[in-house]
Amino acid sequence: MEIEEQEKSYRKVAEATDIPRNSGVKVTIDEEEFALFNLNGEFYAINDFCPHRGASLSEGFLEQDKVFCPLHCFDFNLITGESEIVSHLRVETYQVKVEDGSIFILY
Ligand code: FES
Repeated sequence: MEIEEQEKSYRKVAEATDIPRNSGVKVTIDEEEFALFNLNGEFYAINDFCPHRGASLSEGFLEQDKVFCPLHCFDFNLITGESEIVSHLRVETYQVKVEDGSIFILY
């Protein structure tokens, strides 16, 4: 049986000006929810759903290159998706690009 992988493409999710420096917003593509962060002017996207108990990571707080979940403060690295506090937890990370002031996620 052949399994077809859906082709990914960059999808526009926001304007760069929508996301203040060092904060995050929740954006959606189809039914999927992403946490999109502006970390010192660089943009990062991870899955919004915390793998611990499902809190919205876009409502977490940023410190260096990590977001801390708003519910139980577990950390997730914005680049690797890994948690230092609970090493078996991780979130999916996504490539982001900015073009003409618009932000796109590869999904
Ligand atoms: S729900 Fe995110 S750390 Fe518990």
